[in-house]
Amino acid sequence: MRQIPIIIDTDPGQDDAVAILTALGSPMLEVIGISVVAGNVPLERTQENARIICEWAGRSDIPVHAGCARPLLRPLVTAEHVHGKTGLDGVALHQPTLPLQSEHAVDFIVRTLRQRDSGSVTLCMLGPLTNLAMAIVKAPDIVARIKDIVLMGGAYFEGGNITPSAEFNIHVDPDAAATVLGCGAPITMLPLDVTHKARGTPARINLLRALPNRAGNLAADILTTLERFDVQRYGVNGAPLHDPTVIAYVLQPALFSGKHVHVAVEQGSELTLGATPVDWWGVTGKAANVYYITEVDADGFFALLAENLSRLP
Ligand code: BDR
Ligand code: CA
Repeated sequence: MRQIPIIIDTDPGQDDAVAILTALGSPMLEVIGISVVAGNVPLERTQENARIICEWAGRSDIPVHAGCARPLLRPLVTAEHVHGKTGLDGVALHQPTLPLQSEHAVDFIVRTLRQRDSGSVTLCMLGPLTNLAMAIVKAPDIVARIKDIVLMGGAYFEGGNITPSAEFNIHVDPDAAATVLGCGAPITMLPLDVTHKARGTPARINLLRALPNRAGNLAADILTTLERFDVQRYGVNGAPLHDPTVIAYVLQPALFSGKHVHVAVEQGSELTLGATPVDWWGVTGKAANVYYITEVDADGFFALLAENLSRLP
């Protein structure tokens, strides 16, 4: 089997952790490396969390690169109120021995895209888009070499989760998001409009807890903690599961559907900063810049997570 080469760019983050574990459990994916960004918690913690997650998966061979410590133009907004002070609330954390690479994440992204065959590497973006925007500005030649940018971010029909109109990843660094959405590479976007349909109901979490390994239990513990916050907020059965949809899309795109549309990013307004107006009906006449996903087979999605998590220690 020919593996799909991916870079995971992430700000772990509880749902990031489940996404990374799923990717590391899949024989279909070659995780070339992990680039880390500040987001859910500051960089100091997200880079350490990424190394802990690789060790949970028994994958101390994965290079982890620390990237940007804050958004391009604005102060960092974090989400400890969701993910806890460590970013990985709900599970015990250890001091990782997996070393951090000395190469900056932005340089890692640029080097990898230049070294690998053009059109072969998929970028799995699970946090604010700061690292990728920096890479594009630093080395515009990489854009033509990207196979697909699959990103969790944005919201339109569902409204926002950090402000009434904006989703967290885009709100944290709207300037980076605008750079990425305007870059011209193929982009697949997994917004709240789809992740709110991928809910971790108790039955689906139990599917993970029933796995006979540590990774299944870790994922179940993390999702149970996340659930407490989200169920309180959204008042529904099961918390939305965001970042793992990116990995699931790369593994099994048939689980998802959407529409090719033009999406912009609000960078000016204080009130709606980071909002992502979607031209669903083509009223602007602007060419589509993203494949915007709105539907998921949620049971199929959780089955895919369980299948891949089951291969880990
Ligand atoms: C996104 O924001 C973060 O809190 C999650 O990790 C996810 O990437 C959801 O809006
Ligand atoms: Ca994230």
